[in-house]
Amino acid sequence: MNRLEGRFAIVTGAASGIGRASAELFAAEGARVLAVDRPGADLSFEHAAIQGLGCDLATDGAPATIVGRALEAFGGLDIVYNNAGVSGSKPVADTTDEDFDRIVGVNLRASFRLAREATPHLVKSGRGRLIFTASIMARHTDNGLVAYSASKAGVVGMMRTFALELGRHGVTANAILPGAIATGMTAASFVREDIKAVWARKAALKRLGQPIDIARAALFFASDDGGFVTGQALGVDGGLMLRV
Ligand SMILES: NC(=O)c1ccc[n+]([C@@H]2O[C@H](COP(=O)([O-])OP(=O)(O)OC[C@H]3O[C@@H](n4cnc5c(N)ncnc54)[C@H](O)[C@@H]3O)[C@@H](O)[C@H]2O)c1
Repeated sequence: MNRLEGRFAIVTGAASGIGRASAELFAAEGARVLAVDRPGADLSFEHAAIQGLGCDLATDGAPATIVGRALEAFGGLDIVYNNAGVSGSKPVADTTDEDFDRIVGVNLRASFRLAREATPHLVKSGRGRLIFTASIMARHTDNGLVAYSASKAGVVGMMRTFALELGRHGVTANAILPGAIATGMTAASFVREDIKAVWARKAALKRLGQPIDIARAALFFASDDGGFVTGQALGVDGGLMLRV
């Protein structure tokens, strides 16, 4: 299928995990993709429609650099998938200002700044799409996740405001709330079979999520299939949070 034929997309955090799977799926569906990740990250892709850009999203100039490169390469912009994120786990009392700012700085502030920079171009597109990767931790939490949960809840609140303000221009904004997904972020925990098994068992579907599970939800929001869906936070967690 060519559900994104002729669309131009930016995907952040595209060297690994959910971002990589999404960049590849978007390209397979006909989009041209600017795949953004940290300088030095592996941004090589088989698909010729994907080009990489090494850029630290937390830097002041990142939004202008990224949107500028997309416009230079594609001449327009239809889809921005703000997916890059960092995690970290420390008890509240041990969480320093620097810890808090680092996590909120990437997950929330950098997503806001890139989405804001992209807004005029998404409006121009007439079928603009803003997608954010939040987390089930936007609605829930765990010990040690004070900064991470705050950042992801913030992403959902922010997304709703983009959706409200931009709807009149045909731009949708939505967030995906992944559960436990086997990616770079969780690799250190999921090397342990016992930890992996606990998370798989908790989910109604009795398995961990894979990056492609999230990429398919992103494709829904990016394509015409999701054209009348905006302001939504969609849990994609295999039923992880169905029971307490
Ligand atoms: N894996 C999970 O279980 C899970 C669950 C819920 C939410 N999420 C969210 O999914 C998103 C994608 O993460 P993932 O699980 O694929 O992990 P991942 O670590 O495999 O990928 C995240 C990517 O973001 C990039 N990144 C981080 N900070 C950056 C910066 N400042 N500039 C540029 N790139 C940066 C990293 O280099 C990495 O390649 C994140 O927002 C994460 O919070 C993941």
